[in-house]
Amino acid sequence: MIEATVAFRQPDWKDPGSSRIPFSAYTDEAIYRRELERFFYSAHWCYVALEAEIPNPGDFKRTVVGERSVIVTRAADGEIHVVENVCAHRGVRFCREKSGNRKDFTCPYHQWNYDLKGNLVGVPFRRGVKLDGKVNGGMPSDFDPKEHGLAKLNVAVRNGVVFASFDHDVPSLEDYLGPTILRYFDRVFDGRKLTILGYSRQRIPGNWKLMQENIKDPYHPGLLHTWFVTFSLWRADNKSELRMDEHGRHAAMISTRGTGGRGDVTSGVSSFKEQMTLHDERFLDVVKEEWWGAPTAVMMTLFPNVIIQQQVNSVSTRHIQPNGHNSFDFVWDALRLRRR
Ligand code: FES
Repeated sequence: MIEATVAFRQPDWKDPGSSRIPFSAYTDEAIYRRELERFFYSAHWCYVALEAEIPNPGDFKRTVVGERSVIVTRAADGEIHVVENVCAHRGVRFCREKSGNRKDFTCPYHQWNYDLKGNLVGVPFRRGVKLDGKVNGGMPSDFDPKEHGLAKLNVAVRNGVVFASFDHDVPSLEDYLGPTILRYFDRVFDGRKLTILGYSRQRIPGNWKLMQENIKDPYHPGLLHTWFVTFSLWRADNKSELRMDEHGRHAAMISTRGTGGRGDVTSGVSSFKEQMTLHDERFLDVVKEEWWGAPTAVMMTLFPNVIIQQQVNSVSTRHIQPNGHNSFDFVWDALRLRRR
């Protein structure tokens, strides 16, 4: 792929302290390229997988950090590794399957072979080929496979959720999330075994930041979402709050389901459908979770690339995978938390 170099220009903020974001923050290609470098490829942890997706030694999952293809693996010793899907020889994206189970990876081009930790373990014709009694070709005598492994990412696993960073100097995941958000993270992912119920993938023609912002916007759910408004799952008369970490990167949007019927918050709200009923009322037979005391919904945004949704008994991760300033894939994992 040939990439044009686009000059970076500072967005035109109208006045200091303005909350009006210049449109160029969403539409400027150079800003997007800078975001990839600063948010996805350095100084931040990015969500990559759930342990439940790779439960057995040899299991792997291909995914992305920003636009870079990576592979999450579970090695024979059970440890999780994340390596870049770029052959150390000539840069081929050697892994094409979305997931599977393997002992190793072999690049199709010249068949360099890597173990599940990303170490180079095989190079065909490394010592050349004998022809008429003479050795021809081969790698130089000082060629050391240890120096030619795959790019290995820093990995952090907390209660079954896997994060990775190209940056090996990033703070610990716990420090990165901060105590306020960590409390809400651990509330959902408390060490119980997770089961993947299914995936959903959408390609959204918009800037990736809009998705992060959407889950920091409690204004819209009580106006836009029929499901939430009609069944009081998230309405303007629900008790709600928004908590952030000290850096303002991550957020938890918190709400408690109300019992209100028609009233000020539904009159004139077009998404409220008073006549709407469920085919099966059991769909909303909410089972009390062990961690419930107050909120029935906590929507978390972990900057830069994941949303953790907990809405009554429904739990999912939503992985933001940007592919341009004006497009991102939004990949949902629907989960079941096993009861103790
Ligand atoms: Fe992978 Fe040559 S590009 S082995």
